[in-house]
Amino acid sequence: MAEVRTRIVIVGAGPAGLLLSHLLHLEGIESIVVDARTREDVESTIRAGILEQGTVELLVTSGASDGVLIDGARHDGIELRVDGVGHRIDFADLVGRGVWLYPQHEVLRDLIAARLRDGGDIRFETTVDDVLDPDSARPCVRARHNGEPIDIVAELVVGADGSHSVVRRAITDPSATGYFREYPFAWFGILCKAPPSAPELIYSSSERGFALISQRSATVQRMYLQCDPELDPTAMSDNQIWDELQARVAGTELREGPIFQRDVLRFRSFVASRLRRGRVLLVGDAAHTVPPTGAKGMNLAVADVLMLADAVRGLFAGEGEGLLDAYAERALQRVWRAQHFSWWMTSMLHAAPDATEFDTRRRLAELDTLTASRAGRSYLAEAYTGWPLPGRERCSG
Ligand code: PHB
Repeated sequence: MAEVRTRIVIVGAGPAGLLLSHLLHLEGIESIVVDARTREDVESTIRAGILEQGTVELLVTSGASDGVLIDGARHDGIELRVDGVGHRIDFADLVGRGVWLYPQHEVLRDLIAARLRDGGDIRFETTVDDVLDPDSARPCVRARHNGEPIDIVAELVVGADGSHSVVRRAITDPSATGYFREYPFAWFGILCKAPPSAPELIYSSSERGFALISQRSATVQRMYLQCDPELDPTAMSDNQIWDELQARVAGTELREGPIFQRDVLRFRSFVASRLRRGRVLLVGDAAHTVPPTGAKGMNLAVADVLMLADAVRGLFAGEGEGLLDAYAERALQRVWRAQHFSWWMTSMLHAAPDATEFDTRRRLAELDTLTASRAGRSYLAEAYTGWPLPGRERCSG
């Protein structure tokens, strides 16, 4: 069996794993990133694309990506539509901050390019089967590449391998993996070739259900309809989809075009019971999942990584293991705030299938209170644009 040694082995070449490898490189700490997918798969999977201001600042100032400033679009607000009436949440006015629309696969292309430019070691098509000796000073990732087994021995193993994390199995007890909530609805997402229908994102709550009008570029748009989690994405015709979208955002005329991708996104909230065991740690979706309504997923991963990179720097600078323990506590404080925000946006904007008339009227009153109150809108703006990142409070306003 081939054996390789490095300081940190990072499982998962998503935003969390690649950014961690980049930040460690800036501290002079070597790592190997492994991922079961091909580079093409990683770079072409179209995922969400809202970056908090702090995420953008970190990507740019660390030299990981300036593509966001060139090809990304700054958004200074969103529209909340309630039964056909639009309410602008003006981030710039309320909190003096904004977000950037820059698709996740573009972030990944930039990060991969940055790692390769700096001589980074990313091993695609390498499948991890197991993590050995998590409590020892030399934990090991057992993997396969082209059918050949390989052991990667390191001083730390980081699981950045998404919601189906293999690394998490080495950390959490199978009978108590974490805290979990499932929602009785999902989003039916489409990508279409059309120009944007509005300058900003529209989050629309209507009697027919929720819809989100998002964007990808000048020529490609992303839109979602609240649906049953069991919906077959091929069951609706293009015309039915457009009719439903138009009805749910009544008052705004959507610009239609050919639909070229359809998928159903389940809504789940999850936080792992532990983020660390010995020399093995979790970041990003491997540690937590949020429903997409608050646009927090990638941003939370970035915040985890910033905190973990600091803990690793401290460990290797001889400051001891305390920083690694503190990582879980620090990360979880932000994670639970984001869990609350994502749950709150989700439950305020969606009617559950079993909602009573009381539930619906209460929910609409909440939206009414929020949109009518500067304090309410400010909370939404503050959470959506992102709480200050640790160590970066100054530039985060
Ligand atoms: C997306 O563009 O895919 C998107 C945007 C905002 C969200 C969720 C998804 O809250």
